[in-house]
Amino acid sequence: IKKIGVMTSGGDSPGMNAAIRSVVRTCAFYKIECAGIYRGYQGMIEGDFISLDARSVKGIINKGGTFLKSARSNEFRTKEGRQKAYDALIAANIDALVVIGGDGTFTGALIFNQEFNFPVMGIPGTIDNDITGTSHTLGYDTTLNTVVDVIDKIRDTASSHNRLFFVEVMGRDVGHIALNAGVGAGAEEILIPEEDLGLDRLLESLKRSKESGKSSSIVVVAEGDKIGKNVFELKDYVEENLPEYEVRVSVLGHMQRGGSPSCFDRVLASRMGVKAVESLLEGQSNLMVGLLNEKMSVTPLDKAIKGQSKINKELIRVSDIMST
Ligand code: F6P
Repeated sequence: IKKIGVMTSGGDSPGMNAAIRSVVRTCAFYKIECAGIYRGYQGMIEGDFISLDARSVKGIINKGGTFLKSARSNEFRTKEGRQKAYDALIAANIDALVVIGGDGTFTGALIFNQEFNFPVMGIPGTIDNDITGTSHTLGYDTTLNTVVDVIDKIRDTASSHNRLFFVEVMGRDVGHIALNAGVGAGAEEILIPEEDLGLDRLLESLKRSKESGKSSSIVVVAEGDKIGKNVFELKDYVEENLPEYEVRVSVLGHMQRGGSPSCFDRVLASRMGVKAVESLLEGQSNLMVGLLNEKMSVTPLDKAIKGQSKINKELIRVSDIMST
């Protein structure tokens, strides 16, 4: 391998820049070339590349987002699109890829490898933490800290007005952000897709909470939860059934994806970049690097995508006990 291409794809996450930096500097360390690919698979199709050396990634370890930009490409879903991408890589002498993203990114990489036998290595970058083969995806820790910080602020106003707040957080189909940030911020209830609390139990719990003397409450709701009502409908439902509550809703949205990465994410990104490049240089492919039991490890890309839920049942129990 003489030249590695690196790109970010799908939803951005804090730590992606730090991971690009690590890939570029590891290439420089091993004296091989590195090319940045702009706008994920779409930039690959269009041959939108930039040559990167160790100095071109200075001053980005602390920056949120991704300077290579990200995109979701429909053209790459077609055989013709992937052929164009392959031709562009070959024309630029790129002979291996590090893709930083989530399951959509990895699915694209796998198909590309099957069609062209092109070496690919994945780095899990998504705030959702919905990838098997790593305890943490890049950006997840930063997002947890951001969400906890915001909920602390919401609690200030909630308690000043004796109000109940439904706070909706991201996570797509999984409840990692909601569960962990919810426990960290001391939420009274946490609604996640992996465990449907049900409307009756939610009402009972809120009733009990009021009776026990609590004047304000925070309920964290994962965007993918299965309770059957969105946060605004939940507000109406609770106000109808428990008129003693004054309810407000706060949907945190994309602010959860921004901001300077935490130290944890910067360190993780640095480790993952090194592992990804070294694995390619060892002749490995179709793997995702991850953090398991504190150590860098690799998992086949197809297993990383189709893995089992890694929601922590013990943490669900802790959350139940804490809301007593
Ligand atoms: O996968 C990251 C994520 O932020 C999810 O939590 C969320 O459901 C989705 O992306 C939002 O996507 P978009 O940025 O396209 O609105």
